[in-house]
Amino acid sequence: MRKELDKTLEIARKEILEVETLHDLMQLKSRFVGKKSVLNNFMKKIGSLPKEGRPAFGQIVNQAKNQLAEIISNREIEIKERDYKKNLQANALDITMPGRHREQGSLHPITKVWREIEDTFISMGFEVAEGFDIEDEFHNFDALNTPQDHPARDLSDTFYIENDVLLRTQTSTVQIRTMENHKPPIKIIAPGRCYRNDNDASHSPAFHQMEALVIDEDVSFADLKDILNIFVKKMFGSEIESRIRPHFFPFTEPSAEIDIVCVNCGGKGCNVCKNQGWLEMGGAGMVDPNVLETLGIDSEKYSGYAFGLGIDRVAMLKYKIPDMRLLFENDLRFLKQFSK
Ligand code: PHE
Repeated sequence: MRKELDKTLEIARKEILEVETLHDLMQLKSRFVGKKSVLNNFMKKIGSLPKEGRPAFGQIVNQAKNQLAEIISNREIEIKERDYKKNLQANALDITMPGRHREQGSLHPITKVWREIEDTFISMGFEVAEGFDIEDEFHNFDALNTPQDHPARDLSDTFYIENDVLLRTQTSTVQIRTMENHKPPIKIIAPGRCYRNDNDASHSPAFHQMEALVIDEDVSFADLKDILNIFVKKMFGSEIESRIRPHFFPFTEPSAEIDIVCVNCGGKGCNVCKNQGWLEMGGAGMVDPNVLETLGIDSEKYSGYAFGLGIDRVAMLKYKIPDMRLLFENDLRFLKQFSK
């Protein structure tokens, strides 16, 4: 019986060390050391031995059982460790792999220029005022001294919503709203959207203006020229040439238009400036006393200037964009050029 036990032990050891999976190991465990195991069978056979030999053999079988249990538990640890390492390797993070690319947004060129213009005037003591995109005729035309039969009121220029309600055609409406609510001195800028029934390479039906209004005692045309000069140099560099040219607006007297030398050809004449050598950037003038009086401001005591810059125009000039529609199509290939 002893020989038989040794033989069984030898086979068990060999099989346990060769087993590869936890599942197979557990089967070996029940086969060799479990309740119905081979070793238990030896225990059952003890009765057939001579009496004196029984305790000693019982001990031997128990030792053998403990030994096998230990080998099994060692093998279990080995297999578990091996599986754990395998698993780690299989799910390892490859830090040399290139990352996934995410597109990063950036400011639209109009927003950039808008903010730059705003900052320039804020640094000169202007406050930012706001108005409404949807306006009435009073703020868009009447209070701005625009006669009933002025062509700008025409349906072909202005988007009317109903009778008296329209999409503002100019940020000059904010001049009126500001004067309604504030007494001089006034020194504001008003950026915003405007709408006109126009659509070509240099006009968009929705566009952006930056209005300015300064009202105080002794404000003169020289102050207007000065501030425009500072602005133009700050925006386009100190070398840039600008000019103001007589013009007409119903709400300013005298009125002017502001031009800068064509940034494309430097004044020689090209298709961007339509061979003029100059590019138009906005309108300006001294606030008409009629406007001041309509709003209850004493035009004997106070005077002021106003101007309106085309933000999109400034962006086109600054970035040499040949067609205004590019600014509104939002083609990523175009916008990406302004991401820095
Ligand atoms: N509102 C005028 C326009 O849109 C520009 C302007 C503003 C002119 C202020 C004079 C003073 O053309």
